Amino acid sequence: MDFKIAVLPGDGIGPEVTTEAVKILDAIADRYNHSFQTTHGLVGGIAIDSTGTALPEKTLEIAQESDAILFGAVGGPKWDDPRASVRPEDGILSIRKRLGLFANLRPVQVHPDLTDASPLKPNILNEVDFVVVRELTGGLYFGSPKTRWSTPEGRFGVDTMAYSELEIERVLRLGFELAALRKMKLTSVDKANVLETSRLWREIAIELAKDYPNVELQHMLVDTAAMELVRAPSQFDVIVTENTFGDILTDEAAVLAGSMGMLPSASLAGVIGSKALGLYEPIHGTAPTIAGKSLANPIAAILSAALLLRYSLGLHKEANAIEQAVASALSAGHRSPDIAKQGEVPLTTGQMGDCIVGLLE
Ligand code: IPM
Ligand code: MG
Repeated sequence: MDFKIAVLPGDGIGPEVTTEAVKILDAIADRYNHSFQTTHGLVGGIAIDSTGTALPEKTLEIAQESDAILFGAVGGPKWDDPRASVRPEDGILSIRKRLGLFANLRPVQVHPDLTDASPLKPNILNEVDFVVVRELTGGLYFGSPKTRWSTPEGRFGVDTMAYSELEIERVLRLGFELAALRKMKLTSVDKANVLETSRLWREIAIELAKDYPNVELQHMLVDTAAMELVRAPSQFDVIVTENTFGDILTDEAAVLAGSMGMLPSASLAGVIGSKALGLYEPIHGTAPTIAGKSLANPIAAILSAALLLRYSLGLHKEANAIEQAVASALSAGHRSPDIAKQGEVPLTTGQMGDCIVGLLE
């Protein structure tokens, strides 16, 4: 089958890891007789430098004309001035918003041979396999007012945590649907003891639960969830939560998998199985200190390509093949620097990509 894929590498290690993800997609096209037509676009700091904006209209057009978007990462010290009027991060935030990508799936699994890459005790990492569904286009990230001002008493700043019923309902529903496809357990994470948006969130979760009698719904406060994630992470199946909580909890969850370089994500605009346009990106950032040195772990980007095949293109066999090849590479002891043991010679970014391509069944 023929598909169009927009490739937006961004900044820092974004281009390096995205190159490896495209390499895997090319290998899949070859083996399974598909054609993936890729079109590159500018986003983030590199887009600011050449066009003055983090998400040029041209990039948005490329994205909208595609079946799926493969995204790298955006940001870097060069653009970090807190007084700057444009920021690389606007690139990712705007594309999520403009394309209505309201649900961000972040699967967390621990490869059995990687337990020593995590600082946590190996027994805690047994049978960890959950997905965080992070609300992606609402909450503190987008609420208004969002501004700063000065008064004689000093400077002020405000961000607004706002959610509509519709925004909450659609992401919770996706959480229930996903749990129904998995182990039937949904943990809704909120801060209902303090926040009004969270009380609305919890109320809607309870209402929706009636439509999913076979899914066990549990509510957990976000501070408790932060603790439980490292205390007993195997208790979770699907976690659903609002934007900021999900951002924070998934960086924490990366510690379970051994490295930020291991976790992929899928940002979706519709229910699971709708094959709608989605954006696929590693959860990690641009890692400026190692950028351009071939030290980055491309696995999160490669696993994001697998999610792209599964959720936007409906190519399940092909997605599984990529995940299997990654698991085989890790089982065979291949390591990038972030997950290597002391004294082990790690692979470069490109070597890891080649190695995974070589292990594709
Ligand atoms: C993420 C990142 C982004 C976010 C940044 C780069 C804006 O941390 O995707 O988790 O906060 O959503
Ligand atoms: Mg983040």
